[in-house]
Amino acid sequence: MANYNISIIKGDGIGPEIVDEAIKVLNVVGKKFDINFSYNEYLMGGCAIDACGNPLPQETIDGVLASDACLFGAIGGAKWDNLPRELRPESGLLRFRKEMGVFANLRPAMVYDELVDASSLKPSVIQGVDIMVVRELIGGIYFGEPKGKDEFKGWNTMVYTVPEIERIAHVAFKLALKRGKKVCSIDKANVLDVSQLWRDTVIRIGAQYPDVELTHMYVDNAAMQLIANPRQFDVMLTGNIFGDILSDEASMLSGSIGLLPSASTGEKTAVYEPIHGSAPDIAGMGIANPIATISSASMMLRYSLNEIKAADAIDNAIKKAMKDGFRTKDLAAFGAVEVVNTSKMGDIIASNI
Ligand SMILES: NC(=O)c1ccc[n+]([C@@H]2O[C@H](COP(=O)([O-])OP(=O)(O)OC[C@H]3O[C@@H](n4cnc5c(N)ncnc54)[C@H](O)[C@@H]3O)[C@@H](O)[C@H]2O)c1
Repeated sequence: MANYNISIIKGDGIGPEIVDEAIKVLNVVGKKFDINFSYNEYLMGGCAIDACGNPLPQETIDGVLASDACLFGAIGGAKWDNLPRELRPESGLLRFRKEMGVFANLRPAMVYDELVDASSLKPSVIQGVDIMVVRELIGGIYFGEPKGKDEFKGWNTMVYTVPEIERIAHVAFKLALKRGKKVCSIDKANVLDVSQLWRDTVIRIGAQYPDVELTHMYVDNAAMQLIANPRQFDVMLTGNIFGDILSDEASMLSGSIGLLPSASTGEKTAVYEPIHGSAPDIAGMGIANPIATISSASMMLRYSLNEIKAADAIDNAIKKAMKDGFRTKDLAAFGAVEVVNTSKMGDIIASNI
């Protein structure tokens, strides 16, 4: 029997509700495929501030680094919004990603056939969309120095080194080999020097992957093309800030923010989390959609633990729940046979396995 030590960070808002459903599904899939998961829970975000005055306790850093992979809900909420920036939950999350060395953020954007009407785009445009956005996560303008503000001006620095670009490019090309064999690298090389370096480096690394077709697109055009013709994309490779914006845009193709998972991987560990935040407006109401988190658990099985059959079983169980017409409230208007709460959705997916 395979044994894995999974670190769990439930976080704030709907975090605990949705992570509980993912654990429920992992336990069922574990039984079916002879996998044993042991879980250790850690604090991050607002709950950690309340418990020990620090959004990212050292115990969390050590615990996650010692685990095989981390499943994370979401952090943040109005209660902590007025704290100084460095003490806020979001600062803890940025520091967490840096400490974990998770430089590659993988965000799939796919459209469930049963939910084509949930998108704001026409079904003919979005049917069959299957995109993987590969975003550099711990460099670029969010981390570059110098940065600061005074009463008159504010400044940040967009900086990438060749090794930073090389390692994220390898991730994108390797993923493309397992998918549609296409990488579109997104930059702003017509204006930014850092983007010119990005493009030159991606071209050089791309030469090592002759089976992958490499194209380039300026970020403003990419934002437009994602809406105009999203099916043209397979793997989209981009830096931190462009990826932040484009991956949110891509996620809306699927119709609900509650559906999409993500993986943040590096050389030390990997963190799996839904793309949405802590949704304080619906926390504790039992109506959050747990699918993004359950799907994140599936990505964890696929990319960190190499348990491909178990990952496929979860993905198929989600598809069956969609096909059978079970919907949480966010998707109630789209083909619902029955509207179910968070826990029931977890039960249905678990029983489909
Ligand atoms: N990775 C993270 O932990 C992360 C990411 C983004 C935002 N945040 C934090 O989350 C808090 C709320 O931010 P926000 O409102 O901008 O974004 P959000 O993603 O939490 O919510 C946006 C909207 O989507 C809805 N929504 C989100 N997830 C859902 C789900 N699973 N099911 C159904 N509906 C869902 C919410 O109810 C809300 O109406 C803030 O404190 C923000 O800083 C955290």
